[in-house]
Amino acid sequence: MTKTSKKISPSTKPDTKVVHASVNPLEHEGMANIPVYHTSTIMKPNLDDYRQGRGKYDYGRKGTPTSQATEEAVASLYKMDDCVATPSGLSAICLAISSVLKSGDHALFPDSMYGSGRRFIDNVLPQMGISVGIYEPSITADELTAHFQDNTRLFYLESPGSLTFEMQDIPALTTCAHDHDCLVAIDNTWATAMYFDAVKNDMDIVIEAGTKYISGHSDVSMGFVISSGDTAHTIRRYTQNTGICVAPDEHYLAMRGMRTMALRLRQSEANGLALATWLEQQPEVIQVLHPALPSHPGHHHWQRDFSGSSGLFGFVIDPNIPIMAIDSMADNLDWFGIGASWGGHESLISQGRFKRT
Ligand SMILES: Cc1ncc(COP(=O)(O)O)c(C=O)c1O
Repeated sequence: MTKTSKKISPSTKPDTKVVHASVNPLEHEGMANIPVYHTSTIMKPNLDDYRQGRGKYDYGRKGTPTSQATEEAVASLYKMDDCVATPSGLSAICLAISSVLKSGDHALFPDSMYGSGRRFIDNVLPQMGISVGIYEPSITADELTAHFQDNTRLFYLESPGSLTFEMQDIPALTTCAHDHDCLVAIDNTWATAMYFDAVKNDMDIVIEAGTKYISGHSDVSMGFVISSGDTAHTIRRYTQNTGICVAPDEHYLAMRGMRTMALRLRQSEANGLALATWLEQQPEVIQVLHPALPSHPGHHHWQRDFSGSSGLFGFVIDPNIPIMAIDSMADNLDWFGIGASWGGHESLISQGRFKRT
C-alpha cells in the first residue's frame, strides 16, 4: 500500500484542515513540510513548452509549490475557490477593494473599520474615482437601504469593529446588500475561519490579516483575500496584473503557524475571556469591550453568528483616573509588552487611537 496524502473535503473540520491542508509528502520526496522554493526563474525543458506555456508553474511571482500550498490551505479552510496571499493584512484590504471596483463606483464601509484601511478608502479611493460612504456599524438593514446608490458595488463589513468591538447584524445587512446587487466583503481577522463561517454567512470576499492568528508568532507580515467564482477570477487577475506576491519564507512561516492555529486560538480565547471577566470587576474599568461577554451590547449577534472568540478585546478606563496612574499600570505589567498587533505568542497592551466620522 502507498501512503497518499489525506483527502480534505469541504466538510472536514477546521481543526483537522489546519493540520492536514496542503500536506503532500509524496509530491515532495517524502518531506513532511512544503519545501521553500526560492525562485524567480522557472525553466522549461524546451522552447515549445515555453512558447505554449506548458507546465504548472512559469514564473516565481505568479506562483510556486510553496505559495500554492499556503493559498490552497487557506482557501480550503474557508471552503472557497481561491485565496490570494499578499504582503500584509492592509494590502489584502486594498487588493480586495480595488480589484472589484472601478472609476465611477461607490462603496460602503463601517465607521469602525481598521484604521489603516480607513486611510486607504479616505485617501486613495477618491483618487481612483471611487466614492465612499461610511455607515454606523450598528445600523439596521432598514436604515442601511437609504445608503445605497445606483452605483454602489461593494458593501464592507468588519465585525467586531476595530478598537470599539461593535458587532454588526451580518445576516440582515448582507441580505440587504445583495438585494442591492452589491458584493459583500468582510475583514475576518478577529474571528478567523475557525470562528466565523463565511460561506454559511453568504460572504463574497473574505479578508484576513495572516500577520495575526494564521502565522501566530509575531514574525510574519501577510494578508489573504479569499473568494469564489467570478469574483475569485477578478481578484486573481488583478493580483497578476499588479505583481502582488509574497516571499517564499513568509509562506513557509505562515503554513507552519497555521498547523497550531486551532490550539493557539482556543487558548487565546480562554485567556482573553478570563482577563476580560476579571477586568469587568475592577472599579477603575467602566466598560469591557469583548463580544463574548453577556454585558457587551452586541453579544446576541456574536452568539448567533460566531462559534468562538479570539484573544483581542478592549476596555475603557474611568476618565477620572489620572493618565500617570494608567501609564504606571501598563509600564509595570510583568508579562505584557506595549505595542501594536495581536495574534502572536506574546501578550500586548496598547492604547486605542481612533477616528470616527
Ligand atoms: C482587523 C485588522 N485588519 C487588518 C489589519 C492589517 O494587518 P497588517 O498589520 O498585516 O497590515 C489589522 C492590523 O492590526 C487588523 O487589526
